[in-house]
Amino acid sequence: MAANASSNRHSAPSESEFFKLSAILKRLTGINLPLNEKNLALMSSRLLKLRNEGIFSYRDLLTAIESHDNRILHLFVSAMTTNTTHFFREEEHFQILTRLIKDQVQSLPRGSQPDIRVWCAASSTGEEPYALAMVLHDLQNQCIFTPKILATDVDFKVLAKARTAIYSEKQVENVPPGFLDKYFTRFQEDGARWYRVDDSLKSMVQFGRFNLLKNYPFRYKFDVIFCRNVLIYFERETVQYVIRQMTQVLQPGGHLFLGHSEAVAGMFPGLKRAGPAVYRWEPT
Ligand SMILES: C[S@@+](CC[C@H](N)C(=O)[O-])C[C@H]1O[C@@H](n2cnc3c(N)ncnc32)[C@H](O)[C@@H]1O
Repeated sequence: MAANASSNRHSAPSESEFFKLSAILKRLTGINLPLNEKNLALMSSRLLKLRNEGIFSYRDLLTAIESHDNRILHLFVSAMTTNTTHFFREEEHFQILTRLIKDQVQSLPRGSQPDIRVWCAASSTGEEPYALAMVLHDLQNQCIFTPKILATDVDFKVLAKARTAIYSEKQVENVPPGFLDKYFTRFQEDGARWYRVDDSLKSMVQFGRFNLLKNYPFRYKFDVIFCRNVLIYFERETVQYVIRQMTQVLQPGGHLFLGHSEAVAGMFPGLKRAGPAVYRWEPT
């Protein structure tokens, strides 16, 4: 197998290079890449992105990582994460969220204005937390609360993109037209139409880098956690670690939203199913 990434073709890493790099990726992020043809091709195509950084071979990359070049390490992680997302992905979850928050706020004594804290734990390029912000901002017309959204990801590049809050016409195609008019400013550049998220939404979302494998150092508990379409990349014991940590930072009665293929039913008895891939935390 070719070990060099410098040709224009997607040359694959050798098996030993693949094992070393996938072990580093797993240790750093939990992402599990078993050795197979698909993942060899995935790694070679993703790492072509590092050529601009002077990394022309898997050996170059391993040497940089082994000599603790943190910049290359972060770029390696960024290249290897899958950041696919879109506005209002798995749309039913946003309807369930609206109902849950409405019920929660309306069950409180009249006149109270609770903080509702939402953590979007693998926020990628921002579409998910901004969709949450739209829904919560809109819901403030019906009940009184203060929404606070924390959006985190391990990949510094997607966080930078999320902070710019600018999306293409294609990227906003799932945003309901009313929300597009209300929460975005359109502009033309380079012959294309772009959409910038308005400050009213941007100010509701705080972005930060956070690795789900680490300790969870939050000073407060969350009413809602969205952790969607990231657990699929982890092995079962990593999923268990992440979910256990999340239950520690969820309010009793709070809700955890996962991706539709990420069932954790039966993993923790205190997590009760409350909808499709939605769990209510009822600690015993
Ligand atoms: C497929 S995207 C999902 C985005 C969004 N949650 C959604 O459902 O549309 C997965 C995201 O998880 C992030 N990720 C992967 N491993 C992570 C880790 N250990 N800690 C935090 N984020 C991680 C990736 O960088 C990527 O942006």
